[in-house]
Amino acid sequence: MTAPSNAETFDNPSTAVFGSLQATDIVLDLAYQGIESKDWKKLFSKAEQAQVDHHLKAVFAGELVNTSEHRPALHTALRNLDKSPILVDGKDVMPEIAEVWQRIEGLCNKWVGVTDLIHIGIGGSDFGPRLAVQALAHSANKSNRGLRVHFVANVDSAELSHALERAQANSTKVLIVSKSFSTAETLMNARAVLNWFKAKKLTSSQVQNSLFAITSNIQAAQDFGIQAKNVFPFWDWVGGRFSVWSAVGLPIALQYGFDTFKQFLQGANHMDRHAISARADQNLPILMALALYYQQTKHHSKAYAAIPYAHALELFPYWLQQLDMESNGKQVDCFGKSVSLSSPVVFGSAGTNAQHSYFQLLHQGPECIPVDLIAIKEPMSPLPEAKDHHHALLANCLAQAQALAQGRDASDPNLSYPGKRPSNLIVLPKLDAYHLGALLALYEHRAVCLGALWGINSFDQPGVELGKVLAKPIERALQEKDGFSAEFDSITAARIHYFQK
Ligand code: F6P
Repeated sequence: MTAPSNAETFDNPSTAVFGSLQATDIVLDLAYQGIESKDWKKLFSKAEQAQVDHHLKAVFAGELVNTSEHRPALHTALRNLDKSPILVDGKDVMPEIAEVWQRIEGLCNKWVGVTDLIHIGIGGSDFGPRLAVQALAHSANKSNRGLRVHFVANVDSAELSHALERAQANSTKVLIVSKSFSTAETLMNARAVLNWFKAKKLTSSQVQNSLFAITSNIQAAQDFGIQAKNVFPFWDWVGGRFSVWSAVGLPIALQYGFDTFKQFLQGANHMDRHAISARADQNLPILMALALYYQQTKHHSKAYAAIPYAHALELFPYWLQQLDMESNGKQVDCFGKSVSLSSPVVFGSAGTNAQHSYFQLLHQGPECIPVDLIAIKEPMSPLPEAKDHHHALLANCLAQAQALAQGRDASDPNLSYPGKRPSNLIVLPKLDAYHLGALLALYEHRAVCLGALWGINSFDQPGVELGKVLAKPIERALQEKDGFSAEFDSITAARIHYFQK
């Protein structure tokens, strides 16, 4: 880990020498943000006034930062590898966390002859492990243990069916991952897997030994029929979208070994230490939050894009969408007062593919959309052409930043580029478990800092509930043969009638 240097003060972080703003060897280059010193000064004052660093520290200290649900958001404890005590309600949570680490390690050593792992979970119980398992498959130092890991999230049975077609029932293990253990999609998929096991003539004891749960609702998992010894706990003070560091990350350990999982935690932990100790003008998550806040207020940007120039990080934007928009897509602040600013829409996909999709709009659309460009220094394929491809990939990344920022005048307005479109460049030395962990933690802390700037509780998600409630009577109505007894508005009723036919 690179210790924060106190020698240099960055009055204008946008003009910092490339490489001088870094943590865990991840470099942040704000040069194309176009933010002047006077504006950085105002931004640092804003950060002080919003008590951004206090807010970060409150998260680490286990304070009740989730104000609506009156609980901490202590995901940082899950990667506190030195086990220094962290108290929730006066009780040190580290022994319980360490016990789960031991159990994860034990399972990694125990699973011999397992061919398939079906991971059933959705939202925070899916995006993180799915991203990490895919990203690390491309890493040069991977130690793939040869499991076929199938992630199943969608209630659309097409996803499950795809997994089941590939899995060998006799040597398949199933992880049912749900913090609440009440998520409709997850339970429906889990029941369908039970039926599949039965159809494949597995005995009930074989089925029992194949089922595992990761949850904070241990009773519900046991009621579902999962043996107590196969239930991995996590806690209500871990937000779903921050849960990949808990046993939710189990597939990472099962696929690449416990040491790799530990490195993933270590990278995040080192980013934590940076986030909590570096001064604002050197602090990567704070600087990234301030830069986005600046662009949002200056250009009224309603969206920003995250473009990893690394195919391995193809799923990163999906993970980030939940992190940012579920955390900060809010209409009121912590006190219930309307806010004028909250999370912009987040979108993205891997470069260079993204360039052939919506980059037209980034360059010439009427709205200014800030962009995070994420590059990896080392190539990630064993092909003899890997280096050349990597140079092409990096050239595209750097050129897009240049084109966005500098634009180009042309007499034909259709051919001119306005420029002054801000971007960050974030560079990882390589994409191993350590740097992946650090990258995700960087964005987690940025989300917390942005929440503080907007005055938002970043740790609840009340907006997802209404649709879940309304889906239930519609689902029942769809199962009726002809007509239905429940009352619906006329538009929904007409739609239900159509699907019933
Ligand atoms: O979408 C709402 C949500 O509650 C997310 O916050 C969460 O990550 C996801 O559903 C899955 O929840 P659970 O892990 O409880 O199944």
